[in-house]
Amino acid sequence: MACVTNSYYVTTPIYYVNDAPHIGHAYTTITADAVARWHRLLGRDVRFLTGTDEHGLKVQRAAEENGCTPKEWADQTVVRFQDAWAQLGISNDDFIRTSEQRHHTAVQKLLQACYDNGDIDLQTYEGLYCVSCEAYFNEDDLDLGNCPIHGRPVEHVAEENYFFKLSRYEQPLRDWYETHPDFVLPTTKRNEALGFINQGLRDFSISRTSIDWGIPLPWDTGHVTYVWFDALTNYITAAGYVDDPASFSHYWPAIHLIGKDILRFHCVYWPAMLMSAGLAPPERVHVHGFLLVGGEKMSKTRLNQIAPADLVADFGVDGVRHHFLHDQIFGPDGDFSHEGMTARFNADLANNLGNLLSRVTTVVGSKCGGVGTAPRPDSPLAPIVAREYRIIAESWERISPSEALDATWRIIRETNAFLEEAEPWKAEPGPLADAILGDALEVLRIVSILASPAVPDACAEIRRRIGLTGDAEEERLPESIEWGGYPAGLLVVKGEPLFPRLK
Ligand code: MSP
Repeated sequence: MACVTNSYYVTTPIYYVNDAPHIGHAYTTITADAVARWHRLLGRDVRFLTGTDEHGLKVQRAAEENGCTPKEWADQTVVRFQDAWAQLGISNDDFIRTSEQRHHTAVQKLLQACYDNGDIDLQTYEGLYCVSCEAYFNEDDLDLGNCPIHGRPVEHVAEENYFFKLSRYEQPLRDWYETHPDFVLPTTKRNEALGFINQGLRDFSISRTSIDWGIPLPWDTGHVTYVWFDALTNYITAAGYVDDPASFSHYWPAIHLIGKDILRFHCVYWPAMLMSAGLAPPERVHVHGFLLVGGEKMSKTRLNQIAPADLVADFGVDGVRHHFLHDQIFGPDGDFSHEGMTARFNADLANNLGNLLSRVTTVVGSKCGGVGTAPRPDSPLAPIVAREYRIIAESWERISPSEALDATWRIIRETNAFLEEAEPWKAEPGPLADAILGDALEVLRIVSILASPAVPDACAEIRRRIGLTGDAEEERLPESIEWGGYPAGLLVVKGEPLFPRLK
């Protein structure tokens, strides 16, 4: 087993099983996938978790409308997420569903730990509830009487609920933020979370009696657990909180990737719940903005949701992955458009990467009889790779895929420029042509590793065409990108364009 510090546990939010997967969900999942792939290349013991959030009023109502039980409804709808992720090449190690028994046990264990610590008590609660958010709002949070996020009417709810004493954790949370300056990134989001804490924290209700689709409280089974308390716990369930202490201490705490709308739950409620149970808060929470379509957030009511499968049909799996990773900067909101996506596809994939592969394999065919040549130890491309690698590694570490890919594509562009200058297609067959092509083949080998977190299928194909055996995933960084690894004598084949230009 790898040493403790070598583990890397990365998670996506668990998606409401009721919704159909759209590109907002795909965005976080693709980012987490690329980050997981990068850390596997570094030889870390990666655990990458995604899944579905299946309890609560929303699912119970949808099931009623469809004439089935909530579990039957969830069983039908979960497949949409599992299929979407399989189609996008998502390499999650586990897929958690909150309706699973392992999760049921974990939620009850966490609740009991908080209860035993004196942090949960019974109170009467009246409030305004948004079923879409599964959250209460204050009167002044509302937007003309509607939920500020969904724009739908809130419901007046009065119940006897158990409350989690969040107010007790105001100071411990402040201390945590103080001693862990990178706990929430980017800093603007950290400030937002701290601002929320500094306003004063109110206890929040963690149980419901009005529904039964949920996990009963262990000490009062007439109540089911509030869906957010239940959902957040998924991250420790899957790490082995209940039944695998060795795995739990190895993987926990996790790195969470989330959208900005669920910041309060992850950056305030969740660390407090964990502290209450004597567990470590998450390692870091990385918060991203929304993908906007025509300047607006996607929603069912606006009918502007885009399914990942529709984009895969036009751009291919790698085209979709590359767009979200390279164009949509992780942090701020980003506008999605087909035009932007097409431009990125043509510039990076067709013109740069595809063109480099096609040039090199064609000229190796005509000048070297289709047999690859070795790179020069003192190639002018070697320092470029070394320079960009430092930026690439540092950018993936900070979860800044767009910067990592900027640097990766600088290597590709500079290699194309080098070939345009050296013009091996005009050279006589011989040592000079061999050397230039060897240098370019070496870059292709290195790029097939460095770009593999973003465009894994293309990288596998590049490796096949330049005669390498073994997947990029088996390579280890940084050793595998030391200049000079491409051996002479491999069969190089020219194939169809890797990324035909899009109109
Ligand atoms: N089930 C809760 C999360 C529980 S995690 C313990 C939930 N689910 S969700 O399906 O509504 O949203 C999941 C994630 O998708 C959130 O991070 C949200 O920010 C993200 N997105 C939803 N629409 C989005 C965009 N338009 N753009 C980017 N991400 C968006 O909340």
